[in-house]
Parts: sequence; structure tokens; C-alpha cells
Amino acid sequence: MPPRWARSVGPATATTVGLEATRCAPPPERLTPAGLDPVSRVRHGGVVDSLHTAVQLATRFDDVRGYTERLAAPLSPEDQTVQSMPDVSPTKWHRAHVTWFFETFVLADHERDFAPFGDRYWFLFNSYYESLGPRFSRPDRGLVTRPGAHEVGSYRDNVDSRFRDLLDSLDDGTLTKLAPTIELGFHHEQQHQELLLMDIKHVLSRNPLQPVYAGSRRAVSEPDELGWVDVEGGLVEVGHEGGGFCFDNEQPRHRQWLEPFRLADRLVTNGEWLAFMADGGYERPELWLSDGLAQVRAQGWRAPLYWSQHEGTWLEHTLHGTWPVDPGLPVAHVSFYEADAYATWAGKRLPSEAEWEHAVVSDGQADAVRAGGNLADAASFHPAAAGAAPSGSRLRQVYGDCWEWTSSAYHAYPGFHPPEGAIGEYNGKFMSNQMVLRGGCALTPPGHARATYRNFFPHGARWALSGVRLADGGEPR
Ligand SMILES: [Fe+2]
Repeated sequence: MPPRWARSVGPATATTVGLEATRCAPPPERLTPAGLDPVSRVRHGGVVDSLHTAVQLATRFDDVRGYTERLAAPLSPEDQTVQSMPDVSPTKWHRAHVTWFFETFVLADHERDFAPFGDRYWFLFNSYYESLGPRFSRPDRGLVTRPGAHEVGSYRDNVDSRFRDLLDSLDDGTLTKLAPTIELGFHHEQQHQELLLMDIKHVLSRNPLQPVYAGSRRAVSEPDELGWVDVEGGLVEVGHEGGGFCFDNEQPRHRQWLEPFRLADRLVTNGEWLAFMADGGYERPELWLSDGLAQVRAQGWRAPLYWSQHEGTWLEHTLHGTWPVDPGLPVAHVSFYEADAYATWAGKRLPSEAEWEHAVVSDGQADAVRAGGNLADAASFHPAAAGAAPSGSRLRQVYGDCWEWTSSAYHAYPGFHPPEGAIGEYNGKFMSNQMVLRGGCALTPPGHARATYRNFFPHGARWALSGVRLADGGEPR
């Protein structure tokens, strides 16, 4: 039997499976255009606490939904329609898909006399949920010129209104049962806020006029010496302890054995990456995994994504325009293969995800909110130079700036079981052929970074805001 969501509409053409990942320096002048203030922070410790009352849920709903619209506000309907490559989704698709999520997983089973807003929206805006029926081809999302950006706005307004009405109508027992799904919807929308920014960066990079999304360039940063933090190994515990929101893939908490190791106290910089390039980094087969070298040759990689050379100077496309590469900023938009090759060239290695998490917690930065960092609320939308570590800690740039590639394949933790039903498709089915990244980036919404958060992308992905932190010692690579 088709889900209630699809009962009122006819069959559609089967399509390909979409795959999606799913998450301070003082901001320089002009970084925040009018109406682009970050969502208000909801801070209750290291993670966002469960939200149970209708008032709390409604407030959080308005915050999250409003922030998505503010991120999209600087973009024209034309900007919001373009899909510059298969991995990128149009801005208006993100706005509609996160709306579809609330309509499908919250309204469909709880709203009296539920009827979908649009006859075919369930088909257009389902991302990858097989159990909810067929959906439109992901690489062709840019062909969907209708509904337009304004109609998507009407869709959002309609679902927002119905959602608030539903919250007002639910009894306490039903609300308590539904609250975890609603909270998942908040974090799902935050993931798409980050993806929206990553995707529009790629879209604008393909425009020969190199449009600016927001912000302006920071002052050129000063050189900064790389330090190392020794971490005692042993039998450690990793994974989310419970007591606040986490995705299913962060649990169960479990034990891991770690040899003693060292972790770099900051991310690899553009200047260090330029040295790697000057030393033939992209041409030396001995530095590369076989699959990585194949990608280098097939894709013609000779620098990070968004770098281009003009009259001997390397330039970098950013959301605030195209500028000469700043040697002091973290290198960004490199694939796992490039990160691994760089580590080999440097005589180091990438940390495992368990090493990363244990080091961060041991360094007193389990609480991401207290640790701070260059997240989206800094409104720079670009990695910043490493500043000082939080008081009492030694690791810098833990949260924000760039998602950090680890040496860990994205697999289920021991004892992991996805939830039953369509929501069980959220994370578990992607645990193949991807690598884990940790920490968050300059596009990650506040309240969406934590020590146990497991982001994941394929080995060759470069459009995500990903960077490199080195490790040394401990287990051999
Ligand atoms: Fe999604």
C-alpha cells in the first residue's frame, strides 16, 4: 500500500537514487547583508536538548525555518534554479525538500483530513526515501523550472501554517511521541542549510561574472606555526552518550583501543598546500592511493577546487568573491584522496574518527557550544586563520572552518540498528564507499556541531567545505 503521502496521486516514473550527506574570529566588514542574520542560538550544553513543549517546538521551528529563508534571500529566482553538477541541488529544491520532510513525516500522519500541498510535490521533493515511492532524478533537479522559487515560498508558508496549527491541536501524549521526529526535522533542515551554501558556492563559481553571495574579504592572515598535541591512547569510549539530540549514526557509544598519538593543533594551510603543489604533489604517483591517482588524471586536478591561476597568481573563488589565495587560511575543498596524499607527502597521516573524537574530548572541547568556532553564525562563510585555542585547551579550529577528513570509512558502530520505517533510510543505507569527516565548517549552523557528529562524503568529493588536520604516531596508516 502506498504511504498516505502518495495516496491521492498517480504513479510516477521510477528514477535514480539521490545521495546526500546529510555540519570566531570577529566578522570583517560587510559580511552580513541586511536580513541575513544567523538563526538565534539554542544552547543547552554540548548539544541541543530535546524539545518537548508545543511552545518550545514552535519557537525552534520558526528559528530554523526562518534561517533557511534568510540564507536564500540574497539569491534571485534564477540563482535558485540552477544545478551546476549532479551533486549540487538548486536552492529552491533545498527549500522545498525540507518542507516536504515536515509535510511527510509530521503532517501526513497527524493532520486531520491531510492532503498534500501539491499533487506531485511528493515526487519532486523526495530525496532518497525508497519506501515512500518513486521520485524525480537527482541529477535533473535543475530542469524543474516549475514550481518556481516564489511557488516554493508559498509551499513553505502553507506547511509552516499547518505545522503550527497541528502543534496547537496535539494532546501532550501525541506531542511527546512526535517530538523526536520534529526535532529530527530541525536538524535535517540545518543539514540542508549547510548544503544550500555549499551548493550555491558551486553554482556561482560557474558564472563567468563570479557573483558575490555575501561578505567581503578578511585581512590577509599572518603565518602561524603548526603545533602538536600528544594524546594518551588506551581503551576509550566514543559515540554519543544520549541526553540530547544526535543522529542515529552517532550511537551506540562503544569502546575503541587507541595507541598513543599526536594531533596537529590546527588545519593545514593554503601556504602549506602551495608547498605540496610546488614539490610536484599532484604529479608524484608514490604519494597517492591508486583510486586517487586515477581521479587526479581523469579530472585533471592540480590544485584544490575553486583555485585558478591568473598571470602566475593562484586565485580562490569564495562566497565573497574571487581573491588571491591567502597562505594563512586553511586549505579547503580538497577530496579525501588529496588529503591523504598531502599527509603522505608531509610524512604524517590522517587521524581516525575515534582519534579525532577522543582527542577533542580529552582537550576539554566536548561541548561544542562552549568551544565556539567559525561556524555559519560568524557570517564569514569561509574558513578563518587559526586563532587561539579555547581557554584551557590546546587544539585550535576544532569546530567550524573546514570539515576534517578522517582515515575512517563510514560504517555502522557496533550494535547500530536504524529505526524502523522510512526514517530508517536517513543514514544507515549510506554506510558504504564513503569516508567520515568531523568538526563542522564555516557553513555549519550553530547548534549543529558536536564532538560525536559524523559527516560523510565519497572519497572524491570536493564541493563540500572540507580540509585537513594531520595526525602522527599511533597506529600505522
Ligand atoms: Fe534531506
